[in-house]
Amino acid sequence: MEAAAHMTQKTFTVTDPESGRSSALPVRSGTIGPAGLDISALHKDLGVFTYDPGYATTAAVESRITYIDGDAGVLLHRGYPIEQLAEHSTFMEVAYLLLIGELPTAKQLEEFIGNIRYHTMINEWLLRFFNGFHANAHPMAMVSGVVASMAAFYHDTMDIHNPRHREIFAHRIIAKLPTIAAAAHKHSLGQPFIYPQNSLDYASNLLNMMFAVPCEQYRLDPVASKALDLLFVLHADHEQNASTSTVRLAGSTGANPYAAISAGVSALWGPAHGGANEAVLVMLEQIGSVDNIPKYLAMAKDKSSHFRLMGFGHRVYKNFDPRAKIIREMCHKVLAALGRSDNPLFELALRLEEIALKDEYFLARKLYPNVDFYSGVIYSAIGIPRSMFTVMFAIARTVGWVANWQEMIADPGMRIGRPRQLYTGATRREYLDIRKRV
Ligand code: ACO
Repeated sequence: MEAAAHMTQKTFTVTDPESGRSSALPVRSGTIGPAGLDISALHKDLGVFTYDPGYATTAAVESRITYIDGDAGVLLHRGYPIEQLAEHSTFMEVAYLLLIGELPTAKQLEEFIGNIRYHTMINEWLLRFFNGFHANAHPMAMVSGVVASMAAFYHDTMDIHNPRHREIFAHRIIAKLPTIAAAAHKHSLGQPFIYPQNSLDYASNLLNMMFAVPCEQYRLDPVASKALDLLFVLHADHEQNASTSTVRLAGSTGANPYAAISAGVSALWGPAHGGANEAVLVMLEQIGSVDNIPKYLAMAKDKSSHFRLMGFGHRVYKNFDPRAKIIREMCHKVLAALGRSDNPLFELALRLEEIALKDEYFLARKLYPNVDFYSGVIYSAIGIPRSMFTVMFAIARTVGWVANWQEMIADPGMRIGRPRQLYTGATRREYLDIRKRV
């Protein structure tokens, strides 16, 4: 069960070898996982900061939402293992769990789904924003821009210190992200926008908005809806990753929450983060055949090349990413159910994984497939175009972003996020008149 972090009896003492002054740093322990050294007094006591590029060993927040043990390949949402949620739950239920902290009763879930459905439409004025984008605009650019624009529309949720406003914001953004995503897709195709159908479940509604056209009946494939819902469960949250930290940092200034979520969408887009799912497919198509795998592995190992094996490696997982394991199994099932078992890209991905995991370079660095390695194969199989892969990730991760934003804003001890730096630039010098510069 949940419990707040507490100070243990243990302290670490750091001593300045020159002055002999010391700082006693208490240890904070959570419920599970490594404890954290509380360094907040370090600068006051010794006049030094800590230096930790990429925040590789720095916990900046206390959170009760998600727990990862990267060495053991464990991922828990509010204590529940991802494997159990993937098997038994749905995206809407996981969304409730992440936001509220407990699994819902049947009545609570029904009410929650009703609240989300109530908000699926977007303001018609907002829809017109899409006309300002070129047809070839990347959908992530459109989604990020339109989500930020929501800050200019929904003034009834502007008071971030009002819990009811925060709740409406949460329902609204989770409900509208699929509508915005589908509108971006339709804009790229030059097709008319399809309005949400509130009789459909979350994933089916998205598929309908993406693929239906006014002139024909669209038949939803339940295999595709179920696969998408499961992918959403697997992507819903992942503790303090780059995009979630971005949402927290932007939100910590008191910024409008839609603007903070838009910042998260932008951070997710990068190929080192959520953009990797699109990059994996590009890479697999580039590799083309099993015979070319050694050439590309050699490039991935070559430090003078910018090429990396996309979908491989993770800051936290130094063992298999549990989500990748589930998605790989899912690929087999979904492709079989869709009658596409002989999918050449999936075959290539399986061989690439097999060969890479026997390679000393990947073994020594503990580089394993991550969540993005196989997800694109499923997205492709259900007809989602490559440029929309990261948008799918953004739809799911919005729940995690909102849960983290809510947790932060509700915390009475919240402070603006403001990292420090190790300055290595010029020391003080005097301004030189432009005529004297050479
Ligand atoms: N291919 C080749 N080499 C790699 C890869 C890779 N995919 N990933 C890491 N390495 C190497 C690095 O070059 C480094 O080697 P070195 O020790 O000889 O210098 C070592 O492994 C450690 O890598 P770092 O970059 O220090 O690891 P970091 O934790 O900073 O980065 C990241 C993690 C960004 C995920 C990285 O593994 C990567 O770029 N992977 C490919 C992109 C990707 O799949 N991103 C999705 C991540 S999951 C997600 O965000 C949803």
